[in-house]
Amino acid sequence: MSKLWGGRFTGQTDSLVQRYNASIGFDIRLYDEDITGSVAWAGELAEIGLLTEVESAAIIEGLEQVRQEFAEDRFAVLPDDEDIHSAVERRLTELVGPTGGKLHTGRSRNDQVATDFRLWIMRACDRLDDQLTDLQIALLDSAEGALNLPLPGYTHLQHAQPITWGHWSLSHFWPLARDRERLAGVRRATSELPLGSAALAGTAFPIDRPRLAHRLGFAGISANSLDAVSNRDFVVEFLAMAALLGVHLSRLAEQLILFSSAEFGFVRLADAYSTGSSIMPQKKNPDTLELTRGKSGRLIGNLTGFLATLKGLPSSYDKDLQEDKEPVFDAFDTLDIALPVMAGLIRTLELRPERMAAQLEDGLLATELADYLVHRGIPFREAHHLVGQAVRVAEARGVGLTDLTAADLQAISPHFGEDAASVLTVSAALAARAVPGGTAPAALAAQLTAARQKAGST
Ligand code: ARG
Repeated sequence: MSKLWGGRFTGQTDSLVQRYNASIGFDIRLYDEDITGSVAWAGELAEIGLLTEVESAAIIEGLEQVRQEFAEDRFAVLPDDEDIHSAVERRLTELVGPTGGKLHTGRSRNDQVATDFRLWIMRACDRLDDQLTDLQIALLDSAEGALNLPLPGYTHLQHAQPITWGHWSLSHFWPLARDRERLAGVRRATSELPLGSAALAGTAFPIDRPRLAHRLGFAGISANSLDAVSNRDFVVEFLAMAALLGVHLSRLAEQLILFSSAEFGFVRLADAYSTGSSIMPQKKNPDTLELTRGKSGRLIGNLTGFLATLKGLPSSYDKDLQEDKEPVFDAFDTLDIALPVMAGLIRTLELRPERMAAQLEDGLLATELADYLVHRGIPFREAHHLVGQAVRVAEARGVGLTDLTAADLQAISPHFGEDAASVLTVSAALAARAVPGGTAPAALAAQLTAARQKAGST
């Protein structure tokens, strides 16, 4: 078989150059979109009389046969199949004869590849949205299952104030809700048809581009053919969405790694989602979570690497753009497994309320005592200072804040009443935070409802 572009060449391509140039090793994943694009293109060529009805029917039937061969894994790639576009056309021509050679009329691989890739990314967005929704639901169910279970809340990874498991779980739900909004934005940006731009200057045949866009499920058409064949903003947006989603998954993973350690012991990972050590028989390792944390690095790398590829390119197509596919496939494949793995891990997570309770020490309630004084008209700064003194007294005696008597507190300030100790409970601390978004039971119930609505899982 000769090359698509072999006409003006007399010499052979160097074998390493052949390999260097070829993208079939990875763009074979675009076969379905490539064929879909070609079927629509053949339809348009028939509409404007460049193919007879018989020719277009033969081409479309041939293309469907090629699609079948790919789907059934019996498509034989030949050494001269440089990329998916040449492979499909080569096979089509074998099947339908020289008529197959009419399909490429008025189009270029430049607008073809941009079209195929956009179709692929739109599908990928739909699939990731499903996976993300499922992880959201796992977090919602976990939140609902232990909505008001108290545990220490942290800032700077130091004990801060009591929160609940529901509050914590939902704190990882909302970033994913924003990721889904970004995903929808990527899909919108991607839904712009480049086909009809041909190599760079626009096709010379009167193709009805809006109709073609409609046929292929695009929302609209590109405005400038030079821009259209080199525009990879949608790729960058996809990779940026993936990188940030990866960061969110990594933070969730990191926190669960901490929570499953002997030091915290707030959760236990199911056997199905952890692994052992080959030398230390007692170990149960959170490899699954560590991989999620680690893979966020490659998701960030895919974005920065491809931005660097783009930065020096003049308008219109350059072969550098062939570098767009592998980072996207890698990002997609990474998330396509990380998301369901994380959902399964959350669903099988065992909570250990007794370990959480053991960490709910008095220090977490110091703010309550300060707020108590505020209710009695003391300026917060002064209240903060007085409670600080109480903490110091308790520390010096080696006891907790709740072990101080009313007399102890009154020795620090007469503003402490006999009832001061009554605010020093976890449930009072939780109940006080009743603002929308707060950790109080009623506020959390409302947040859970809003989250379920957002995820479409009511
Ligand atoms: N394999 C190429 C790519 O992925 C297809 C477009 C090639 N166009 C060209 N004129 N060489 O970008």
